[in-house]
Amino acid sequence: MKTINNGKLTIDDINKEITVYGWVNKRRDMGGVIFVDLRDLSGIIQVVFNREFLKDDFKLAENIKNEYCIKVTGTLQKRSDSEINPNISTGEIELIASNLVILNESDTLPFNIYDDKEINEQIALKYRYLDLRRDKLKNIMVMRHSINKAFRSFLDNNGFIDFETPILCKSTPEGARDYLVPSRIKKGSFFALPQSPQLFKQVLMVSGFEKYYQIAKCFRDEDLRADRQPEFTQVDIEMSFIEEEDILNMSEALIKHVVKESTNLNIDYDFPRLTYFDAMENYGTDKPDTRFELLLNDLTEELRNTSMNVFSSAIKDGGIAKCLIVKDNIYSRNEIDRLTEFVKIYGAKGLAWLKYDNDQFSGVIAKNLEESIQTEIKNKFNVQNGDLVLIVCGNPKVVYASLGALRLKIAEDFNLIPEDKYNFLFVTDFPMFEYSETEKRYVATHHPFTMPESLDKLKNPSECLSVSYDMVLNGYEIGGGSIRIHDEIMQGEVFKALGISDVEAKLKFGFFIDALKYGTPPHGGIAFGLDRIVMLLSKTDNIKDVIAFPKTQSAADLMSDAPTEVDINQLDELGISIIKEKSND
Ligand code: AMO
Repeated sequence: MKTINNGKLTIDDINKEITVYGWVNKRRDMGGVIFVDLRDLSGIIQVVFNREFLKDDFKLAENIKNEYCIKVTGTLQKRSDSEINPNISTGEIELIASNLVILNESDTLPFNIYDDKEINEQIALKYRYLDLRRDKLKNIMVMRHSINKAFRSFLDNNGFIDFETPILCKSTPEGARDYLVPSRIKKGSFFALPQSPQLFKQVLMVSGFEKYYQIAKCFRDEDLRADRQPEFTQVDIEMSFIEEEDILNMSEALIKHVVKESTNLNIDYDFPRLTYFDAMENYGTDKPDTRFELLLNDLTEELRNTSMNVFSSAIKDGGIAKCLIVKDNIYSRNEIDRLTEFVKIYGAKGLAWLKYDNDQFSGVIAKNLEESIQTEIKNKFNVQNGDLVLIVCGNPKVVYASLGALRLKIAEDFNLIPEDKYNFLFVTDFPMFEYSETEKRYVATHHPFTMPESLDKLKNPSECLSVSYDMVLNGYEIGGGSIRIHDEIMQGEVFKALGISDVEAKLKFGFFIDALKYGTPPHGGIAFGLDRIVMLLSKTDNIKDVIAFPKTQSAADLMSDAPTEVDINQLDELGISIIKEKSND
């Protein structure tokens, strides 16, 4: 029906008779004349309903309300000077209506479509189809499309083959909890939804496809955060006959292309590379926001032999001490107390602080800490009047997590983050294994098919690094991957280090281990978090904004009201019975 897009009309179209379609964004009734902003996907055109021209149809115009879907025929005219709206592209023109058809009415709306005022999230998600009409989400969805398209065009042009891998499959090795789907035919057996297409893409390398990609849905039943959804999308990539350097170079070129195509920005620097170790030491995290300095400084040696037991005994037990130096401090005593509560969330026992004013340190610690150590701190970090030193000492994991988070909080409080910057970097050389306190064994940091730095280093799992990498943007992990193991012996050694027995390996990944026996090429890959990339490029901080139909924090879809209970017959067919949770009373 449509031959014209409302937002694309220009002054060159005046005096033409045209028909436009769309939704009533807003109406103003001036008695005898009604102005309507008629919105379609492309924008808005002002329509003027005048009793004089519309005759009997004017009654119809009087009845239209916001979000009615209408069709209007009329003549396009230049607006009078006083009516010109410089804020919209069609602000100089308007359609004088001669005919009106109401295609569909609208119920009273739960919120306004025409403004971008914050609305209650529960309501917004329930009426997602209406929220998607609003500018903010609409623009993000259009941007998501162009980001998607840019990924595809780069990969298509560089010889990658687009695949689809199964959604109903065997559990994949990413380490989160699986979503399970019961089998009706084989009662008591379950498919898992893929946490990623990891094993399939590696099998495709065995099959000889050399360059694979897929814009793939992934499912992980894990605790949700502002940058995590249970169902999300990866741009998943795998390549044969490559080394780490090839994947990093391809990834950098790919992302520069995507940013250019979707935002018109040129990222004109080489992505810096940081080892995992340096990232943790300096930023307390493996996904550092490098848009501002405020690095973590080491104080372990300075505090190793202090008479203050809180520090020296923690260090003796294998702990470390690190500090942040807040320049030109504005935190009051009360606010510093609140920072202490903040670091406790991350497991820190406390936050020690030293204020430097009038050429001396003050604060509780200053009274007890040896003067010589205070002088060392002052000199090592060039502490100046007005500065505040914030110290956390203890288990390295806790020190990194708490000061890493505090670093971000201080940056926000002191407005240190330049919002218009895109700081990309690669973090490399991740540890191969992490020790799991709950499982009392080593688990793979990335996944068990990641190449360790060498067979020899596997003998000492706590020190063994892997050939793996993440891409980080402004403090978010936007992609991750690794070079894979392509021979059986190495794979067997890694399973051994992970405490995975031959029987268990066969049960979990038997098909994959078999596939590795048939001339597997050296290969590796990476997967980008599409939702996170859209989130950062569209400058929103909530991943729900970039997914058309997202889930809530409790993994529910409020629009369709999923998940729901199912019919007892369906459960019977699957051989499943539900154990009701016992109530407390
Ligand atoms: P990884 O688990 O690092 O690697 O995932 C790759 C990227 O996917 C994004 N991501 C998520 N985005 C939104 N919600 C989530 N719950 C979520 N989880 C992950 C992140 C992350 O960097 N198979 C490997 C890749 C490989 O080795 O090639 C994998 O899935 O941006």
